Amino acid sequence: MESGKTYRWKVAMANLMARRAGKDIHPQPVIDDYARHMKVAFNSGFIGFDDSVMDVGCGDCKLRDIMSKLGWRGTYIGLDPYPIAPLVINVKVEDCAIGEVDCIVCFSVLDGTDDLDKALKNINSMAKKSIIILAGLDIVPDKCHTYEITHKILRDGLPDFSLKLDDVLHPKVSLLCYKRKK
Ligand SMILES: C[S@@+](CC[C@H](N)C(=O)[O-])C[C@H]1O[C@@H](n2cnc3c(N)ncnc32)[C@H](O)[C@@H]1O
Repeated sequence: MESGKTYRWKVAMANLMARRAGKDIHPQPVIDDYARHMKVAFNSGFIGFDDSVMDVGCGDCKLRDIMSKLGWRGTYIGLDPYPIAPLVINVKVEDCAIGEVDCIVCFSVLDGTDDLDKALKNINSMAKKSIIILAGLDIVPDKCHTYEITHKILRDGLPDFSLKLDDVLHPKVSLLCYKRKK
């Protein structure tokens, strides 16, 4: 039987889909912001141009296109339990058993997962080198979100990684870049 938590996640996802229906989910300013974040990640050595990348909660795979424009040519795996683009693997990150990749990118996803502990556990084990997270922090969930993300939750959930860059973009939104501990 489905747990109350999963029911709550499904309701949040239905609300998210309703909110974004018919809208351009990536207007140009958002694409420009994402490109700036990825440039920071490449220039600071969090992703190499040949690295394999898993895009968790990839949506329309915009990050893949942005990375390609910046010169990245590695292997891309996009996963999303509500796929809206071709070739996306239809799975929650909590249930993903795809294996290892060099880098995991996860933009605007963690606060809408079904089971955050499981999601972080899987991300911690699948990323070989680095993890790049864009997240709202210390924000009480609304009808489209399921978890409040904090630095402590991320630190505890990603025990094999060190936070090396915390780029505070707005008072409650950060680009967080992690490297695997040696
Ligand atoms: C706000 S959208 C962000 C999409 C994309 N990362 C971006 O930045 O444009 C959140 C995405 O996470 C996906 N998602 C929700 N729960 C997930 C889970 N448990 N595992 C992986 N993806 C999930 C949703 O289907 C949705 O496409």
